[in-house]
Amino acid sequence: MRSLIDIAELSVEEIDKLLDTANDIIANPEKYAHKCQGKKLATLFFEPSTRTRLSFEAAMYELGGVCLGFSAAQSSSASKGESVADTSKVVSCYADIIAMRHPKEGAPLVASMNATIPVINAGDGGHNHPTQTLADLLTIKREKGRLNNLTVGFCGDLKFGRTVHSLITALRRYENVKFVLISPNELRLPTYVRESLKKDNFEIVETTDLESVMPELDILYMTRVQGERFFNEEEYLRLRDSYILTPEKLANAKPDMSILHPLPRVNEISVAIDNDSRACYFKQVLNGKYMRMALILMLLGVE
Ligand code: CP
Repeated sequence: MRSLIDIAELSVEEIDKLLDTANDIIANPEKYAHKCQGKKLATLFFEPSTRTRLSFEAAMYELGGVCLGFSAAQSSSASKGESVADTSKVVSCYADIIAMRHPKEGAPLVASMNATIPVINAGDGGHNHPTQTLADLLTIKREKGRLNNLTVGFCGDLKFGRTVHSLITALRRYENVKFVLISPNELRLPTYVRESLKKDNFEIVETTDLESVMPELDILYMTRVQGERFFNEEEYLRLRDSYILTPEKLANAKPDMSILHPLPRVNEISVAIDNDSRACYFKQVLNGKYMRMALILMLLGVE
């Protein structure tokens, strides 16, 4: 039995296989419509979500399976003090696979150590979000035709943005990927991620100025400043609008640059960009469902 807690647990070959499966699902959805008949997915969301929870549920329904679960800690027995370990043991009696989101880093790992069914990390605090990364990789592959030879700009909250940490972990395994890190000083990429890239001789550029690096980028990955992870409201209010992407700011961007954002968006991307051919963030949402379908099949061992 296998879980997915960190994207690094998947080999490049396994990621390639998931991408192939997702593309095949897109081309031939009817082939997959009954693959998970009789199987149950439990979505245990201790933290708010729109995309991740609903796309997991849509994914399971489109595979012919069913879903159960909760969308807030308050509506579960966690509100009475039940531990993640006990919850995981209990849910293992009802379901075949778990997708768990939790505000505490490491909670899905604890769940995987106690459950008797596979556990998927659907986002743990400011740490990791491996299935968002699968959505991001499919989007990049479909838009650019490759996952190597790319200059990728990450912009916004690189400190608390778990999707950034997971995507860097995935992309660093492909050849000739250059990372451009654009953030206020207070929201720089965590030292452990930065030092690990430097130790392995990755080319990284750090700047606070988005427009100065715009012409180099093949991918611009915008992120929301994660207000819920700040200890200081005043600091959040000061930093939340550090970067707002507008059509004017794209003047020097490559005509085929892809703009990604894991969403939800607050102010970081003007709605005036939504109809720009480079805007990929709503395609990313749909790609997330297909990659979660591919992942559920893989972890349940369905051919
Ligand atoms: N991208 C993402 O994780 O969105 P939700 O918080 O809505 O699930």
